[in-house]
Amino acid sequence: MWYLSVAMCVLTPSLAFADAAQPWQLSFQDPATPIMQGIIDLHHDIMFFLVFIIVFVMWMMMRTMYHFHHSRNPMPEKIVHGTTIEVAWTVTPSLILVAIAIPSFALLYSMDEIVDPAITLKAIGHQWYWTYEYSDYTTSDEESLVYDSYMIPDDDLEQGQLRLLEVDNRVVLPVNTHVRVIVTAADVLHSWAVPSLGVKCDAVPGRLNQASFYIQREGVFYGQCSELCGVNHGFMPIVVEAVQLDDYLSWVANKLEDA
Ligand code: CUA
Repeated sequence: MWYLSVAMCVLTPSLAFADAAQPWQLSFQDPATPIMQGIIDLHHDIMFFLVFIIVFVMWMMMRTMYHFHHSRNPMPEKIVHGTTIEVAWTVTPSLILVAIAIPSFALLYSMDEIVDPAITLKAIGHQWYWTYEYSDYTTSDEESLVYDSYMIPDDDLEQGQLRLLEVDNRVVLPVNTHVRVIVTAADVLHSWAVPSLGVKCDAVPGRLNQASFYIQREGVFYGQCSELCGVNHGFMPIVVEAVQLDDYLSWVANKLEDA
């Protein structure tokens, strides 16, 4: 009954967020950060132009094929130049491109911006799991908070867990906080990607890449490695659990105690 759930999501968007890939999914997962909202808005902006262009080009082609069919137009015209139309069909598309470029660049540069982060998370890609490091905190033996995150194999799944998406140790982060994520890899290229957060950051061995996000609602956000990294590329998912700041702090305290 997927169409019922689609209808539910469309009619009552606040009741059920799509924070993981869904069967028969069309379009984006629901945004949880301003950046992802911006990406979706830009997509809609561009689709507006796209629809007009497709309709206009189709209409021109249909008209041309109709009026210049050999049965209606047996003697072809000998015109090879028309300055006015040539200027028009050069200037108009360039204006459309400018109208697309302005919001596009604004979004691109805002994604690049790192706003004075309160928390730094380090994600390290391995064949085939992620290691997470919270270097803002240290345990009693001066180690930072580090743990591995593996996919739950099919046989160990519990009721309600998402196949190929759930992990044993999730990333926990607070809502309404500027978070910086530093991404790297220990062996080959990976990519740390979470659609609802609007983050897709390549994990390159020997290099630190940086992304940032500001999660606006609580939830569990699912993502996957997004760079072909070997046979288990499809089996190193990412799960980000966004909680209130209090819950985040007690989670950190517990983790530090365990370590
Ligand atoms: Cu790691 Cu694909």
